[in-house]
Amino acid sequence: MAESKAIVVLGVFVADTTYRAERPPRMGETIIGKSFALGPGGKGSNQAVAIARLGAKVSFISKLGDDAFADMALKTWAEAGVVSAVTKDSESYTGAAYIFVEEASGNNAIIVCPGAATTIGVADVEAKADLIRAAAIFITQLEQPIETARRALEIAREAGVTTILNPAPGAPLDAAMLALCDYVTPNETETEILTGIKVDSPDSAQVAADVLLEKGVGAAIITLGEAGALYRTAECCELLPAFHVAQVVETTGAGDAFNGGFATALARGFTPLDAVMFGCAVAGISVTRAGTASSMPNLGEVEAVFTA
Ligand code: RIB
Repeated sequence: MAESKAIVVLGVFVADTTYRAERPPRMGETIIGKSFALGPGGKGSNQAVAIARLGAKVSFISKLGDDAFADMALKTWAEAGVVSAVTKDSESYTGAAYIFVEEASGNNAIIVCPGAATTIGVADVEAKADLIRAAAIFITQLEQPIETARRALEIAREAGVTTILNPAPGAPLDAAMLALCDYVTPNETETEILTGIKVDSPDSAQVAADVLLEKGVGAAIITLGEAGALYRTAECCELLPAFHVAQVVETTGAGDAFNGGFATALARGFTPLDAVMFGCAVAGISVTRAGTASSMPNLGEVEAVFTA
């Protein structure tokens, strides 16, 4: 791979508390689970870790509390090679996520409490404007406030930085915000929230992608789990297959792996289509492992399954 240009990620770190069980408990019920794990998570942090493991230069803008989970964040980034552009708020706490993983399928359901990161505001990203302007690629999600993501996308767009929005968790967004994005990367449910169109096949994904293009995005990349990813621009529509590397253990963080891989490949000069394929390869490896940040592969592991 060619030398990478710098990537800046805005997002959230939380500690993932993951419970594997045959099914989720009903209201008022207690059930015995199969296993528990505590580890680093949060969509933005996971994406930054994925990018760093793949060998690209990455800075992460966020906010932490001043507590044991913040120590976990700093250790995770130091080990992966993520440059911290993070502030601490000792009046608040570092967030956490409850993750239920279904034993049979590895599929998940999540409640995330971003803690201190819920107060990342417009002024916080304006204070990091020079960092964003100096990047080749800027990527964010929606775990911190939407208006903060919007302002950061504006700063990036004004400076000619390539912008990627991973609109997760799903939220309705106005066309003015979508028009700030060179790429948007929703999954099926996030696409439905953005467009009102139920996505359950590549054909319905294409219809929804067209709505996103009408709203002003440069390219819509709709991730479809085992069915791969649909890449749609005004000129092109391609369904890229998922990578089936080995038995699926846990799908949590697969979207983050995809986004981290996609951003890294763009930063290395891949065509957007090849970058989508590279993202699919990174996600295909991540789902064969437990955890989120801890499931992100390194460059050698991806190159063993991917050739552009
Ligand atoms: O995308 C997976 C992530 O979503 C988890 O790490 C969890 O923290 C939630 O933010």
